[in-house]
Amino acid sequence: MNRASLPRIAVRSRRRWLGSAAALCAVGASRGVAIAQPGSAPLERTGGPYVPTPWPVVDHMLRMANIEARDVVMDLGCGDGRLVIEAAKRHGARGLGIDIDPELVHLATAGAAREKVGHLARFEVRDIFATDVSEATVLTLYLLPEMMARLQPRLLSMLRPGARIVSHDYMFREWRPDTQFSFDVPEKKAINGVPSATVLLWVVPARAGGRWRLSAPAGSGLDRAELDLRQSFQWLSGQVRPVRGVAGEFDGGTVRGVEVRFSVPVESAGRRGRAILSGRVEGDRIEGRIESALSAAAGRFEAQRLA
Ligand SMILES: C[S@@+](CC[C@H](N)C(=O)[O-])C[C@H]1O[C@@H](n2cnc3c(N)ncnc32)[C@H](O)[C@@H]1O
Repeated sequence: MNRASLPRIAVRSRRRWLGSAAALCAVGASRGVAIAQPGSAPLERTGGPYVPTPWPVVDHMLRMANIEARDVVMDLGCGDGRLVIEAAKRHGARGLGIDIDPELVHLATAGAAREKVGHLARFEVRDIFATDVSEATVLTLYLLPEMMARLQPRLLSMLRPGARIVSHDYMFREWRPDTQFSFDVPEKKAINGVPSATVLLWVVPARAGGRWRLSAPAGSGLDRAELDLRQSFQWLSGQVRPVRGVAGEFDGGTVRGVEVRFSVPVESAGRRGRAILSGRVEGDRIEGRIESALSAAAGRFEAQRLA
């Protein structure tokens, strides 16, 4: 495509290199971020202005996502495509970057060809909300908080359990990150005096909440017990109701991708203690093992979803 044939871009803050979260918010809030498309309604840069992620932050994001060749990396609002291109160069991962700005998509496509990863890294002009992310195993984001909040339910419902989301500086409103890390980025200081960046990671949790029936070793106190799992993003709490004996509450459980882990009160062979259940959620089944100081309680378990 000829660069001159690209639609004229009328973005007040276009190509400004702003190095801090505060700066990205400030420009995004100025609402001067429409891209003029001849003969059509202007497309809105609702995710924020173009501010490339500095290279040291790209390094940390890719490392935190633990990318492998089998991953499919997507960057929503990809700018010059650096995250998708680097994931392809360093790890051989396939990727898709989308951006509302045709000129940036052109730049990213040319960058992928220059780096000889055009067969792995593709770029398309697209709105974030018109993008199907269900194939992504890694999603990279550098978007305004308002966009992060709007994206949260969509990502939770579209991405597969175990998919990783890595964000530069911004977080979702309710969904807390699994890991976050702040570090010095001197080049951000040169721009506005904030010489640091934060990289945040979320692992999409499987749907573990609900009512389950346990099958566990006879004598464990848990065989045929009912389990109510209450899930809030990657956190689990609930109640275990043994066939005999009293119901017990628990919290502090986790869901990381398809892996669940929680500790329940248990009464086995007349003794009281706790049992740690860890396993994998596959749709309406959980399979795993029970560890306990009460030896009769330890062994394998299965759980079948009742509701
Ligand atoms: C802060 S920049 C991040 C660029 C790149 N991801 C990086 O980290 O270097 C945000 C990008 O999102 C794009 N963007 C904003 N709103 C968008 C929307 N609704 N759909 C697609 N892209 C959008 C902008 O054009 C810009 O390139």
